Amino acid sequence: MDFRKSGNPFSKGPGRVSFFCFRLIEVFTMKNTNDNLPFDNPMSLEESISNFAGYLSWLQNTIEELYKVHEARQLRYESGLKDIEHKLTHHLFDLKCWDFFERELLEKVDDAGYVIDRHYWQQLTAELIRAASLQHDVLARTISREDVFSTYAELYDSVNGERNFEYISQEIQFIHDTYHLDFSAAQILSIGCGTGIMEEHFLKAFNLKKNQLLGIDVSEGMVKVASKRINARVEDILNLVHEDNPWDICLCTANVLQYLPHHSLEKAIQNVAHITQTGGCFIGDFITPEHPIRAYPNVLRSEKVFLLRTPLIVEKAHNLFQQTKLINVSKLQGEFRITYEGEHTRYLPSLWKLRYLFKKYFEHVKFFDAMTLEPLEAEDDTSPSSRYLVFAQKAD
Ligand SMILES: C[S@@+](CC[C@H](N)C(=O)[O-])C[C@H]1O[C@@H](n2cnc3c(N)ncnc32)[C@H](O)[C@@H]1O
Repeated sequence: MDFRKSGNPFSKGPGRVSFFCFRLIEVFTMKNTNDNLPFDNPMSLEESISNFAGYLSWLQNTIEELYKVHEARQLRYESGLKDIEHKLTHHLFDLKCWDFFERELLEKVDDAGYVIDRHYWQQLTAELIRAASLQHDVLARTISREDVFSTYAELYDSVNGERNFEYISQEIQFIHDTYHLDFSAAQILSIGCGTGIMEEHFLKAFNLKKNQLLGIDVSEGMVKVASKRINARVEDILNLVHEDNPWDICLCTANVLQYLPHHSLEKAIQNVAHITQTGGCFIGDFITPEHPIRAYPNVLRSEKVFLLRTPLIVEKAHNLFQQTKLINVSKLQGEFRITYEGEHTRYLPSLWKLRYLFKKYFEHVKFFDAMTLEPLEAEDDTSPSSRYLVFAQKAD
């Protein structure tokens, strides 16, 4: 039984009792357990890391030592071990780790952030997930797995929001110009608004009042960030109740609808059509099943955050999904933080399926490549940039 691979013994859980019985026997049968325990090493963090082949080997070793000390403390209550445990934990999450981590990681990815050394990546991400679990326990942070975007929300803008915002603004401007839309008195709903960064910009760009737009998102973490910028509230697209107040424009940017359970996609589109004013429209974007990030581990970075993404394409009952493990490594508020954001699943429906669903609930539907903004024709089954834009309008 190798608990280290299966999880964190610090956490409470069903395997905890049997695990500690097992370790108890192991400890009592050892000749001298102190031989196996780390000693109080006076080395500084920098000296300690440079004694190893690199950051990853140091990280692996430190986590192993931390587990050993923690177990021994649980079983034998040796007071000296507390200081060693404290020091190892301190080292693991010391801000000085950032430079070592950054330097090593950048050698393993190309200029576009795609991983060159997959073997290294596999080991690194496994260790970071263990470290994240330790940090989570040590700092007693609570992450609700129900809300996969909750901790991610704080870091989202710096690696994602600010990056998306440029192409999304271009998409909306394009639809506005092409269909001669008048936003000046429009009531706008942004579904899955995330941190509201795009919506804030949108209000400014079109000189609109704050009360013309409402952002909704299922994630409390996202809404907390968005509320600092726009009117926003927690709401699930699958439970929309806005009959009395239909919207002129419904926005849904950065493939929000692909985060829903795949069998709910039609219900979501139907709900949106239901709350859209006659003559009103939906503007949203999607990625195709051919999206290039689907199979390649990659890094998104900003000055203070690295987002490590490990995607996997899975097929279930003839439906394709992209399941991506997300790890954020950041140096915010004076901390070296490692957070495992869990696995985000995106449904990758075919273009024809979306075309069929939108046509079922809206009268006028048009698809465009999201980057070139060229129209996609009825016979197209993919989009050149692998991201596409949907404009769907209800008849007057
Ligand atoms: C990739 S983010 C896009 C955020 C934002 N629209 C943007 O352009 O950056 C997807 C968002 O969809 C939200 N979301 C997922 N399922 C949802 C649902 N059922 N109802 C409302 N929002 C949802 C997530 O919480 C997340 O904030």
